[in-house]
This record gives sequence, structure tokens and C-alpha cells, in this order.
Amino acid sequence: DDDVIPIEVEADKTGATIDRNVFGQFAEHLGYGIYGGVWVGKDSKIPNVRGIRKDVVSALKAIKVPNVRWPGGCFADEYHWRDGIGPQSARRATVNANWGDSGEPNTFGTDEFMDFVSQIDSEAYVSVNVGSGTVQEAADWLAYMTAPATSAAGKERAANGHPEPYKVRYLGLGNESWSCGGAMRPEYYTDLMKRYARFVRNYRPEQMEKGAEPMQRIAVGPNGPDTAYTEQVMKTWTEHDWAWNIEGLSLHSYTTGGWPPSMSSTDFDRNAYASLIKETLGMDGMIASHSAIMDKYDPDKKVPLVVDEWGVWLEPAPGTNPGFLIQQNSLRDAIIAALNLNIFARHADRVRMTNIAQMVNVLQAMILTQDEKMLLTPTYYIYKMYVPFQDARFVPVNFDAGTYREGNVELPRVDAIAARGKDGKLWLAVTNLDPSRKATISASFDGLAIKAVSGEVLTGPKVNSINTFDNPNMVVPKPISGTVRKNSVTVDLPAKSVAVFRLDE
Ligand code: AHR
Repeated sequence: DDDVIPIEVEADKTGATIDRNVFGQFAEHLGYGIYGGVWVGKDSKIPNVRGIRKDVVSALKAIKVPNVRWPGGCFADEYHWRDGIGPQSARRATVNANWGDSGEPNTFGTDEFMDFVSQIDSEAYVSVNVGSGTVQEAADWLAYMTAPATSAAGKERAANGHPEPYKVRYLGLGNESWSCGGAMRPEYYTDLMKRYARFVRNYRPEQMEKGAEPMQRIAVGPNGPDTAYTEQVMKTWTEHDWAWNIEGLSLHSYTTGGWPPSMSSTDFDRNAYASLIKETLGMDGMIASHSAIMDKYDPDKKVPLVVDEWGVWLEPAPGTNPGFLIQQNSLRDAIIAALNLNIFARHADRVRMTNIAQMVNVLQAMILTQDEKMLLTPTYYIYKMYVPFQDARFVPVNFDAGTYREGNVELPRVDAIAARGKDGKLWLAVTNLDPSRKATISASFDGLAIKAVSGEVLTGPKVNSINTFDNPNMVVPKPISGTVRKNSVTVDLPAKSVAVFRLDE
């Protein structure tokens, strides 16, 4: 059958580890991302633990969120942490001028965020205010979070209910400093970056010691393809010494279909589907070009590229506040998520952390809520199906994807990655991009004898199929299996689908 696509899995070779942090999330004070989506307050009739939604926590636990970036985004560069600590009734209400001029009650602050992170068994990625704050303010914040309970900062934290220092594993030194974070020349940013890297200390002893689990400081990096920050930050990094260092370079790149985003998240045809997929596949070349610059300064790949904002950014859902960035999430978005995760996996040696934008109710969300209701999006299920790839070792695959064509857009028919999981099993993820044609895959494993194959597939009736509060199970994973022959496994992938298989030897 010449319609079979052979995939050769080089099962005896392993590459870089696909860091679990590649599956990170981003939660900004924006629209209903925090308020309503995560935080409902202790007195809410919505079931909660200390004000944090139970349903959202349990859904997030199931996808093993490795880290959560907070409080922004653009919001972070106008955030003053003191507004969000102490007795709830005394919190200072402000205005979220970045996002719809909504009221910011500051009822969700540092202690609530840390509680949330611990409820979902994740780690904190805190972005400090470089744009409108001071080095001192950020240093004081880190002292509040991490200094011993015997210090003044630690006493204040203890008085707010948490004597134990918090763990701050990742620290963002500003956000988009080339734009909403202060529109800085790269040279100006790196001067400022060094001061933040020097003085914003983490006081938890095991994080100060070398080798243990040091805090990773992540510098602002490129805006999409623009390499100005990549060059300047990496050149500056080569000059680091005992006094300061950075341990990550951020990249922000959204899939938008043009700016400002005007593509509908629900109402689109095959042309729009194909062109958005085409655009998202550009992530590969973009990472490659920044990586090449990073290699020049850092051939040993000490500094990870942290894609801490990415995802599909579409037209705001009709009738919603455009500043709240609310959009539906379709099967197309799930396919786009899988394709990007595959790209990150192929760059696992350099891309060791990413944060999809954003976790709940904003942009390409995992979860949508409406008062007490919650739904899981198609993108959520990709994160769920890909859990075995967290901290798995990349295994090379070779295939001729073939092409499918829509108008003048030409795309690969399929995409695939494989990895050796922490559980010792071999895992294979295959996407069939073609919206109308099934794909028969025949995977071979370099002589490995495969005994059984089992998996899950995510698809739906149409590329724009969505889950709604009334019909939340339109796009959910279903079991899929295949035929095991001597040294190969044959599976039929439905059109427009993503499947993840476990191979038992
Ligand atoms: O994710 C929404 C916004 O996109 C973030 O606040 C900002 O960093 C980026 O421009």
C-alpha cells in the first residue's frame, strides 16, 4: 500500500531530555485569568480551598503543571507586590490599565499565588517589575518570599501566615522590556538586568548554594524573529562574573494570523486553518535562528532559551471586553499546541522551558470557566496526553511526511516525535494535520520487538470543533490502538488528529 507513511523510530538512540518545564503555564492578572478563573475568594459558593477553585486545581494537577509564570506579562511591570499582601480587607485596590481598565482588588497576591502553586504541586516562576519598579522593591519582594523567619522580611511573611520561606525556582527579570515593559534599547536593558541579577537575592539557603537547586534568573530576550535582544543579552552574558549571572533567555512568539489579531477562534474555513498552521510551524526556524546566535556566545548551551509566552492569539470572543483576551479553543488550537510541543522537543538541548499563554480564560487556555462551570479545552487534552514526555529522553524519528495542500499553502501531512519516558517506556506522538484524509502510519523500531501498542487520540467532527459549557465533551481523547507486526506497528490516524502511543516491549 503506497499510502502508508513509514516512520523509523531510532529506538536505540536517545538525545536531550525534554525538560518537564517545556510544559509550563502562564497566569497573568488579565481578564478572568486569575479572578474568577483561579481565585474566587474564601466566601464564594464555588467550592474552593482558601479562596482557590477546587475544580481548576484538580484539572491542573492532572496535567502535572511543572511551573507557573506570574503575575504577568505586561501586568508584571506595573505590579507592586506590597498591594497584594496582608489582611484581605486592607488590600489596596488598583486599576489594571494594561488589560481593560478592570479593577484590580489585589486579593490574589504573593501568599495566595504560593498557596495555589503548592495546591497544584507546581513551582513558582515570578516575574519582577523592572519597567516601573526599582531594584530595591524587587529585592524586598524576594526577601519577603525567601528570607528566614528570623529576619524582618521573614517575620512579615510569618505574620501573614507563612513562617516557612517559599521556594522561588524561577525569576523573570522584566517582561518584554522592548515594548510594554519599558520600550528599552537592548543596551539599556542589559545594564538594568545586571543590577537586578546582582541584588534580587534568593535567601533560601539551598537555593543560594551552588549545585543544589539554584534559582534560575531569566532575562528578557527576543520579540519574535527580532534578534537585537538575543545578541545584546548573550554578549553581555559572556561578561558575567561572581557578582551576577543569568540562567535563561526569554522568547515571546505568538501565532496570530496578523496584527491586531482578527481571526475568529470558532468561525474559520480550511484556508484559515492551513494558513494558521503554516504560521505556527515558523516557530522551528525562529528557535533555530536564535539558537544559532546563542551558540555563538554559549556553545555549551548553558543558557536555556525559555519560550515563556507562546500560543494562538485570536480575535476576542464577540461581546467580550477586548482587553480580556477571551477566545474559544478548537481542535485546530490543539493541533497547533502539539506541533509546537514537537518543535520544542526537537530543540530540547536549548529550549528547556516554555509557558503557553495562558492557563485559564485567556488566549490559548487550558481551562475556561463561567461562574461555577468549568470546561477543559482541546489544548488541555494535548497537555494531558503529553505528560509522559515530561523529562523523557528524546528519541530521533525519520519520516517522509508527504504534503497536503490547501489553496497555495503546502503543509506536511503528518508530524511525529518519540521519547523514552521516565517510566522506561517508548512513547510516540503523531499528528495528522490533514483535515480530510486519514493517515496510515507504519512505525518501525530498529529491531526492538514491540509486544503491544496502546494510545489515545484527540479529534473531532471539524477543525473548528470546540468544547462548550453545554457540550463539554465534543473534543476529548479516545482510546486508539494499532496492529503489531514483527518489528512494526501500524495505526490509522483519523484526519485532523493528534495521537500519543505507548509501546510495550
Ligand atoms: O499574554 C498577553 C500579553 O502578551 C502579555 O502580557 C505580554 O507580555 C504579551 O505582549
